[in-house]
Amino acid sequence: MTDMELMALAHKAREQAYCPYSGFAVGAALLDADGNVWTGCNIENAAYGPTNCAERTAFFKAVSEGVRKFDRIAITGGPADQAPKAGTAPCGVCRQVMAEFCTPDFVVLLADEQGGVKSLTLAELFPFGFGPTSL
Ligand code: THU
Repeated sequence: MTDMELMALAHKAREQAYCPYSGFAVGAALLDADGNVWTGCNIENAAYGPTNCAERTAFFKAVSEGVRKFDRIAITGGPADQAPKAGTAPCGVCRQVMAEFCTPDFVVLLADEQGGVKSLTLAELFPFGFGPTSL
């Protein structure tokens, strides 16, 4: 699975976004250590607070099926009626969830301006975080 293939699955997952309140649609594709892909979209709620981000949807689908080892995630987002916006990055809560299940070298792929991907590590996105080893 190439980075571009994983991003294509994130774009596909974005089509399922339920975002009537923000109008901002996000898709994620999470590659686990066995090579399986777990996709997710954001799921909003009239009470706003229960909204779940695309990344956490993907993680929670995987973890709820017994999968806890991950390799990479591709994320894409933007106004629902438009092409994805380059550089849409995971929110702080999603970074915290990544830190629970992933090592600092976990790779986060963002869509770039040229239709490709920008690759970052969890360590770059979430330095000095509080994680399982902090307790
Ligand atoms: N959103 C995500 O799905 N992932 C992120 O990391 C950032 C934000 C969603 C939440 C909400 O439905 C919409 O984008 C606007 O914030």
